[in-house]
Amino acid sequence: MILVTGAAGNVGTHVVRSLLEAGEKVRVMTRDPGQRSFPDGAEVVSGDLARPEALPAALSGVERAFLFPAATGVDAFLDAARPAGVQHVVLLSSSSVVAATPGFLGERHLRIERAVAGSGLPYSFVRPGAFMTNDLAWASQIRHGDVVRGIHGRAASAPIDPRDIAAVAVRALLDPHSGAEHVLTGPQSLSQIERVQIIAGAIGRPLRFEEATEEQYREQMLRYGMPAPVIDQLVAGLGAVSDGRAAAISPAVEQITGRPAFTYASWVAGHAAAFGPAPA
Ligand SMILES: NC(=O)c1ccc[n+]([C@@H]2O[C@H](COP(=O)([O-])OP(=O)(O)OC[C@H]3O[C@@H](n4cnc5c(N)ncnc54)[C@H](OP(=O)(O)O)[C@@H]3O)[C@@H](O)[C@H]2O)c1
Repeated sequence: MILVTGAAGNVGTHVVRSLLEAGEKVRVMTRDPGQRSFPDGAEVVSGDLARPEALPAALSGVERAFLFPAATGVDAFLDAARPAGVQHVVLLSSSSVVAATPGFLGERHLRIERAVAGSGLPYSFVRPGAFMTNDLAWASQIRHGDVVRGIHGRAASAPIDPRDIAAVAVRALLDPHSGAEHVLTGPQSLSQIERVQIIAGAIGRPLRFEEATEEQYREQMLRYGMPAPVIDQLVAGLGAVSDGRAAAISPAVEQITGRPAFTYASWVAGHAAAFGPAPA
């Protein structure tokens, strides 16, 4: 039995589907079983990493687990996983842990990685960079106009498709190698301006990236629900690469899965509806 936490998330959804396709027994843990739908064949249990009392039942009979990096609750999960006999934990982490300055997000993921590594349980770390799905934050602006406002449009990153993160996590669950640490990126370095142009091509109408002031950008991200320390890190990160230098690309997705990583264009094609219909 494999337990998947964060199973309704961008990554977890694909982890569940792939494990079921591979013929594995899958249990998903969700805080809200009534509001979530999971594929047939997945056993659904109610649970919350922040509420340890339900964890022993969720972990009963579990051999391997995909662990979502919730801000609180990972220690309790590990404490319950050991006596349950869990033999491998695959942690969704972040490439920010290997950055020269990990920042707020990197420090949070480092704390969780240290807890997992110190638990005595065999583990793998899956450390993706920015998800392609982050660009869904542009969807509302694109649905309502032809401008995406942001800062440092030339800043490049190598965003990764959550399907690829899930594919690596699934390999780590099916063929566990204790201590493996996979830093993952997408296959291309793309500036924000280039990504907006790829979306424009997919939805068939012109779009442009417009530079906002840092203050406007911070307000926009706060409205989007992003915590202030994360906005600080985002602003600093974009500023640090605003000269347009190319982002580093990791070959790990292709090496581990045996197929190329999904391109940004392929991700956009699958999400074109979120960016809205082309005007008549
Ligand atoms: N976005 C990025 O660019 C990026 C980059 C590197 C790393 N990451 C990491 O990836 C995470 C996001 O992954 P994602 O996009 O797949 O997630 P997501 O789409 O934000 O989904 C969140 C999932 O996590 C579950 N969850 C949240 N808190 C929980 C808790 N206390 N107990 C149990 N389950 C909980 C929720 O499950 P229920 O509501 O069903 O309980 C939900 O399915 C980030 O938080 C970060 O740690 C993100």
